[in-house]
Amino acid sequence: MKNLSRIALVALSLIVMLPALSARELHVVPQPAYTDIAAEGDYTVTPKTRIVVVDNLWNPAERFTEDMQRHFGTEKPMPTAKNGKGIKIRLDSCIPAEGYEMTISEDEILIIGGTEAGVYYGLQTLRQIIVTNDGKVPYGFIADEPTFSYRGAHLDVVRHFFSVDDVKRYIDILASHKLNRLHWHLTDDQGWRIEIKAYPELTEKGSMRKETLIGHGLEPKWWDGEPYGGYYTQEEIRDIVDYAAKRYVTIVPEIEMPGHSQAALHALPWLGCQEQEVDVWTMWGVTPEVLCAGKETTYEYLENVLKEVLELFPSELIHIGGDECPKDRWKVCEHCQAKMKAEGLDNEEQLQGYLVARIEKFLIANGRRMIGWDEILDGGVTETATVMSWRGIEGGIYAAERGNDVVMTPMNPCYFDFYQTKSREGEGLHIGGHNSFEKVYAMDPLAGMSDDAKKHIIGVQCNMWSEYLPTMARVEKMLLPRLAAMSEVQWATDRRNPATIRTRMETLRKFYDACGWNYTPYYFEGRE
Ligand code: ACM
Ligand code: ZN
Repeated sequence: MKNLSRIALVALSLIVMLPALSARELHVVPQPAYTDIAAEGDYTVTPKTRIVVVDNLWNPAERFTEDMQRHFGTEKPMPTAKNGKGIKIRLDSCIPAEGYEMTISEDEILIIGGTEAGVYYGLQTLRQIIVTNDGKVPYGFIADEPTFSYRGAHLDVVRHFFSVDDVKRYIDILASHKLNRLHWHLTDDQGWRIEIKAYPELTEKGSMRKETLIGHGLEPKWWDGEPYGGYYTQEEIRDIVDYAAKRYVTIVPEIEMPGHSQAALHALPWLGCQEQEVDVWTMWGVTPEVLCAGKETTYEYLENVLKEVLELFPSELIHIGGDECPKDRWKVCEHCQAKMKAEGLDNEEQLQGYLVARIEKFLIANGRRMIGWDEILDGGVTETATVMSWRGIEGGIYAAERGNDVVMTPMNPCYFDFYQTKSREGEGLHIGGHNSFEKVYAMDPLAGMSDDAKKHIIGVQCNMWSEYLPTMARVEKMLLPRLAAMSEVQWATDRRNPATIRTRMETLRKFYDACGWNYTPYYFEGRE
């Protein structure tokens, strides 16, 4: 040891510490299931490389050529054809539904997917390699498939509103990380953001608030005095749903009930217990103004709204919120109390359980399934509901042990509106908390449950609440690079390798730069 110089020691320790990735290993996030890369030889993709489309896979081909056109900076997309040599894409039902196999040889790059989505994910892997390696794709073989079938990210468009183009950009980022669900939080106390033709007041009155809180609302000057609002027309929603579907992203719409409904109550005061006049809320948090669960007119309203939602969104899962519903109004409401008596309900929690179960029945009768935040467990959940576990993992474990399907999204580490570093230096104002890249990467969505319960964990989701995120650029900086860690949990839970993630992330950073996406530098600077 004595004979080794200081520099040699440092070099040696670096060799030991650095992940063992050779130049011939693939730097892809999320990590593919199996890779076998030849010692030498590359297939070089250029703007002239042909996409050979078999099995009518024109949609994934078009998406790929569009992306490549942007990266190559060319005017014309890469040519597509039904035969010849190039990047050939086709289907084989023996391959898992969202999986793919890719063979890269001197002759061609062959991608075989289990479904169109599998082909799309194979092309996403290929895109990362092309963009970060000057078009050179090493000879070899990749076989890949996801761990979870539900790979979600949520977007709150209420606390701040995002344009159609912003939402499309968000979808692009999700799809590039192989996510397949956008949980779209469309209604809340601070605004109603989806056109409902049966109740035009919801958007005419409910989409605008008088002003927006400044900071956490603790400073002397609390509000900005600027009216704020926006909503999506049904035509815009159809356009976004179609855009997402072409990227194999299903949009799960969320219509909040019976809490988080003050914007609806402003528009339609008869939905409240005391028919009280309320403003679209200008605070963040939890308001006591909730829908009356006693009056039949509330149920009629909810079904009418959902009928239009079902026409707009083909998703099997429909999110009904269910979280954070104070029961103060119900306790003193003659309609709510009468309903409890008539239905033999012991308390207001059970009244919420009754409302949720009734709405679930309506959704099932219309060929859909219900998903709700984990408060739907409090009033006695049915056997068929899917539970989104956010207050922790306990609700999710409880539901999965009972046999309910579950999406794990515990706020630690899945709330992406939390700070990314402990010091918070340079991060701007956020709600609080601390979810670093490392914390997200270390998440075990199957911890603490039996093997039977594990089968009911259908997926994992990150959530983007927008109280402190007024622009899509800010949203992106909260999303990236943490979404890469999330995508590896969702797609590759049991093959995560902390030894290689940092090196792969350095390569993914080049991909982010090429795509022009906003991301924070903290992880790359070693700040946790
Ligand atoms: C939630 O954060 N209220 C689901
Ligand atoms: Zn009531």
